[in-house]
Amino acid sequence: MSTAMTSNLIISIALLIFSSLCHADIVYQPLGKPAADISKQSEWNLTISPDGKNLPEGTGNAAQGAKIFALQCAACHGPEGVGGSADPVIGEVGSLASEYPEKTVNSYWPYATTLFDYIRRAMPIDRPFSLSADEVYALSAYILSQDGIIDAELDLTEKNLPQVTMPNRDGFISIYPD
Ligand code: HEC
Repeated sequence: MSTAMTSNLIISIALLIFSSLCHADIVYQPLGKPAADISKQSEWNLTISPDGKNLPEGTGNAAQGAKIFALQCAACHGPEGVGGSADPVIGEVGSLASEYPEKTVNSYWPYATTLFDYIRRAMPIDRPFSLSADEVYALSAYILSQDGIIDAELDLTEKNLPQVTMPNRDGFISIYPD
């Protein structure tokens, strides 16, 4: 082996050892923070099941909801929940089988708990998650009572909201019947 080759070999081996030592010394700084534990009830765990799991405690009725609706929702959804620039949220119950089916909350949605989930996480569309639990119960009571799905006097709570039967509850067909 020539002197040049030997010194090349020595340099290569030295570099190899050096680089492996360097590597061992690299300390990775932890970045970010641990992901939120969404298994617990928290502001990250917004999903409410049809059986009411995850509904926060609270109460609200249609009369209270009507006032909040006028202030925070009517500008887009119309004064009575119909006729605004955004989707109607009231009316059209029973229209699905008609010549002009309209999918509204009350005509189409199978579970009343979805209404709480949706309003809390998405409405008003420019201020999502700004409403208290009581306000969302009140708005849900207003929307449901306008179509006679619940009594207008009912104080809606985390206990009775899951018991509300929506008109189209049985209108969905499973694509996996078994
Ligand atoms: C700035 C306009 C705006 C305001 C204010 C607003 N919404 Fe909406 N809302 C929308 C739009 C737009 C949609 C449709 C969103 C989509 O399809 O993704 C919608 C959808 C909805 C739906 C679902 C309707 C459906 O059939 O899918 C509900 C329920 C609802 N809004 C309730 C409310 C309530 C309750 C308030 C008041 C707290 C409110 N919204 C305030 C614009 C608004």
